[in-house]
Amino acid sequence: TGYITYDPGFVNTGSTSSAITYIDGDAGILRYRGYPIEQLAENSSFLEVSYLLIYGELPTQEQLEDFTQKINRHTLLHEDLKRFFDGFPRDAHPMPVLSSAVSALSTFYQDSLNPFDEPNVELSTVRLLAKVPTLAAYAYKKSVGQPFLYPDNSLGLVENFLRMTFGLPAEPYEVDPDIAKALDLLFILHADHEQNCSTSTVRLVGSSEANLFASISAGIMALFGPLHGGANSAVLEMLQGIKADGGDVAQFVNRVKNKEQGVRLMGFGHRVYKNYDPRAKIIKTTADQILNKLGVNDHLLDIAKTLEETALSDDYFVERKLYPNVDFYTGLIYRALGFPTKFFTVLFALGRLPGWIAHWREMIQDPATKIGRPRQIYTGEKQRDYLAISER
Ligand code: CMC
Repeated sequence: TGYITYDPGFVNTGSTSSAITYIDGDAGILRYRGYPIEQLAENSSFLEVSYLLIYGELPTQEQLEDFTQKINRHTLLHEDLKRFFDGFPRDAHPMPVLSSAVSALSTFYQDSLNPFDEPNVELSTVRLLAKVPTLAAYAYKKSVGQPFLYPDNSLGLVENFLRMTFGLPAEPYEVDPDIAKALDLLFILHADHEQNCSTSTVRLVGSSEANLFASISAGIMALFGPLHGGANSAVLEMLQGIKADGGDVAQFVNRVKNKEQGVRLMGFGHRVYKNYDPRAKIIKTTADQILNKLGVNDHLLDIAKTLEETALSDDYFVERKLYPNVDFYTGLIYRALGFPTKFFTVLFALGRLPGWIAHWREMIQDPATKIGRPRQIYTGEKQRDYLAISER
C-alpha cells in the first residue's frame, strides 16, 4: 500500500556522512580535507597527501619523517608471499593478481583480523601503503618474466616502485626525476574521490567488520571494471582503435552518438562532474609537459585532443554534460613512462589506496555505521506449489 521506490546505481542515495573529500560536480571543485586539489597538485607529495587523507591534517616535518620511516620499514614482502606469484599464468591481468595478493596479506598478518584494535589498524595501514607498491611491481615483473627486486629503502615511495618495476638486478637503475614527479602527481590526483564505486565497495565490505586487507582487496576488484578505473586502459585501446581505422575521429564520434553496442567515448562523462573534471585539467597539461620532456611524439595525443574538441562542440555531449574525466589523458602519460596498457589500472589502485584506507577507518570509527544491507523490490513469481519432476 505504501509508496515504494528504489535507486539503481545509487544515483540519489546518500550512504554516509564523511569529512574526507568534497566534490561540487557542477562547479568542477575537488578538495581533500578542505584543500583544493590544484594546490595539493602544485605543492604537495603523494605521501603527504596520504597522511592528510588518513589522519585529517597535513603532517608537520617530524610527523612526515616518522610516517615515511614507518612505511620504509615495511616495504619487504614475506618470502612465502613472493611465491604466490608463481601460481598465476604469465599473461594474467595484474589487477586480479594484485587483489589476490592484498587479500593474502590477511593470512600473513593475522593481527589484522580485529578491525577495532587501533594499534593493529595502524600497522595494517602502514603495511598496505608500504607493500602494495612492492606487490604491484612484482605483478609487473611476473608478466614480463623478470626477477623480483628487493625494495631499496633509501629511495622514496614512488622512486622505489619505479626501480622495482623497471630495474634489473644486473644493472644500476637511475630513477628519472621527471618520471617520478609525474607519477607522484598522478597518484595525488587519484588519491580520493568520496563515495565512488570502489570506495563504496570498501565501505560495504568493511561494514560487515571484515578487516582492512579484505575490504581493500574487494575495492581493487571494483576498480577493475572499464566504467571505473579500467577506463584508463580502455581509453588507450579506443585511441589505438581509432588510429588503426585511419584516424577518423568524426566517424568514431558518430558511432558513439548512434549508441552502437559497446561503443562509448571512454574517459568521458562522470556521475558527479557535470563540468570539466578538475583532475583532467591538470592531467592534460601534464601530458603535454611530460611527453615534451621525454621527447615522445605520440600521435595518439593528437587523436585524443581532436576527440575532445569534437565532443565538446557536439550537441550530444553538450546536452548530456559529458566532459573528459580523470582517465582521458592518464593512459597517454603512463604509456610515455613505459607502462603496458594492462598495467594502467594498477597505477590507479596505487593512487587510490590512501583514500580507501581513510574511508575504511572513518567508517569503523563512526558510531552511526551499520552493516550495509540494501533492500529490493521483488518482481519474481507469486507463491506456487512444487511439482514432481514427472509433472513438469
Ligand atoms: N560516451 C557516450 N555517452 C555517454 C557517456 C560516454 N562516455 N557517458 C554517458 N553517456 C550518455 C549515456 O548514454 C546517457 O545518455 P541517454 O540519456 O541518451 O541514455 C547519458 O549520457 C547519461 O549517462 P549514464 O550512463 O546514465 O551516466 P552514469 O552517471 O550512470 O555513468 C559513467 C557515468 C562514468 C559510468 C559514464 O559516463 C561512462 O560510462 N563513461 C565512460 C567510462 C569512463 O570514462 N569511466 C571513468 C569514470 S571517471 C573515473 C573513475 O570512476 O574511475
